[in-house]
Amino acid sequence: MTDINPLDAPAVDAAVADALAAFSAAATLEELKEARLAHTGDKAPLTLANRVIGTLPGAEKAAAGKNLGGARGRIAAGLAARQAELEAERDARVLVDEAVDVTLPVTRGLTGARHPLETMQERMCDVFVSMGWEVAEGPEMEAEWFNFDALNFDPDHPAREMQDTFFVDPPGSGLLLRTHTSPVQVRAALERRDALVHHGRGIYVVCPGKTFRTDELDATHTPVFHQIEGLAIDTGLTMAHLKGTLDHFARAMFGPHAVTRLRPSFFPFTEPSAEMDLRCFVCEGADKACRTCSGTGWIEWGGCGMTHPNVLIAAGIDPDKYTAFAFGMGIERTLMFRHGVADMRDMVEGDVRFSQQFGLEI
Ligand code: PHE
Repeated sequence: MTDINPLDAPAVDAAVADALAAFSAAATLEELKEARLAHTGDKAPLTLANRVIGTLPGAEKAAAGKNLGGARGRIAAGLAARQAELEAERDARVLVDEAVDVTLPVTRGLTGARHPLETMQERMCDVFVSMGWEVAEGPEMEAEWFNFDALNFDPDHPAREMQDTFFVDPPGSGLLLRTHTSPVQVRAALERRDALVHHGRGIYVVCPGKTFRTDELDATHTPVFHQIEGLAIDTGLTMAHLKGTLDHFARAMFGPHAVTRLRPSFFPFTEPSAEMDLRCFVCEGADKACRTCSGTGWIEWGGCGMTHPNVLIAAGIDPDKYTAFAFGMGIERTLMFRHGVADMRDMVEGDVRFSQQFGLEI
């Protein structure tokens, strides 16, 4: 491009026309920026022409200044106008491109859910923790001694048979998968014995956890299930304390009208022993067609009794000084009748759709 003489008005006008043409040809703000640099930047023809002004004699200087000043004004106006146009276009486009249709259906990410057996177990423990009881745990693979002998099972008690109990190889290892949570009674008593005997601190524990029996998986059985065990050892405990504790537990779990009923039964580790029924918390015995209690008005909930003296002796506790009560119930069973779960298999299959129905309990 040849240099422009600032006094050459047609040449200056042509440079202005070039610039304005380049601005209107710019289709984007980016292109407009390039055009601006080309026509108003350091090396632009009119910028170079401007530098010459200083070298001109007085009269010409004024004419050239007027010439170029007008030209630069027109260029600046043209640039601003195009800039405004392109910005308006961009803003309009952004409004369309980035528009969010809040009425579209969302794709919900699947949130996980804690298993209802676990939240049920915690809810049960909480009832006791709020009364100052402790939560105790024991091993799932247990010594036969804790699972049976210490609990006053005869050596030939049928529960020890292979058809009920998973024994751990090799035969005679003395190890098994615990068939109930009652062995934790003995462990908890042994651990707390000194505080009881020397400091008079009563033992009040609940022991939740997995238990195992050689049952086939069907709608009402599973070989791996959960129980919660309660044990209280203190001076002067009677069956009335057991009954009161169970009634409180029932109300906390099933509402203010829930009560329990004890029926005579037998367990080697309690004497007397009882089956514990729960007054149907749905129909309270009034509906012969009630699905929760099958119209009987009562729901079998678990076993209980006054701890047998031999169990206290196995834990090093004098049964003439201290008395104890214990109870135990299945957590799956509790979940089934509390929530109307018809098939136990739903609890073991791990399908999140089952858990989600119970909400996101923390
Ligand atoms: N351990 C017993 C069972 O599994 C239940 C039970 C616990 C009974 C405590 C009495 C006392 O059936």
